Amino acid sequence: MTRIEKLEELISKDEIQDRVKELAEEIERDYQGNEIIVISVLKGAFIFTADLLRYLTIPSQVEFLAVSSYGSSTKSSGVIRIIKDLDVNIQGKNVLLVEDIVDSGLTLNYLKHNLKSRLPASLKICTLLDKPDKREVEIYADYVGFVIDDYFVVGYGLDYSEYYRNMPGINLLPEEYL
Ligand code: PRP
Repeated sequence: MTRIEKLEELISKDEIQDRVKELAEEIERDYQGNEIIVISVLKGAFIFTADLLRYLTIPSQVEFLAVSSYGSSTKSSGVIRIIKDLDVNIQGKNVLLVEDIVDSGLTLNYLKHNLKSRLPASLKICTLLDKPDKREVEIYADYVGFVIDDYFVVGYGLDYSEYYRNMPGINLLPEEYL
């Protein structure tokens, strides 16, 4: 792939860190010391989850789910597949599902119903980014880092053809690449 040299930054590394810390504080207040299982949706949420966990001081376990809906495309196919399932039973547990972005909402909608059927004591959703303009199903996250306009963004876990996940901030992918 041709490497795009200059990307325009939308949200800086420091802005992200400040907001992730605030989200962790909000989550802690709500759970009041109760234990949670944080479920990180791979691959996009892995960096956000790692930072969020480091700011959380309530007892937390972490689990990973891998889902694929987009393949290498920038548009949703709408078909959600679980590629890697949880290693533990979440029945009776407080579950916090962590996403990097909610776009059409199809992934989250699928995961919410799938996880609810496993009878957790509670299920809440935390997303770093929310793109409400693109929503195809009515679904909301309980904790939202940033609401953004309809840009294709990369960095801090989000990719374009698997690249740019390692950028520390959130950056705009120029339209000519879409
Ligand atoms: C992205 C993102 C969310 C989903 C959001 O995953 O991580 O899981 O798309 O889009 P939606 O609201 O339209 O369903 P992607 O399939 O790109 O995989 P990745 O996390 O491995 O990059």
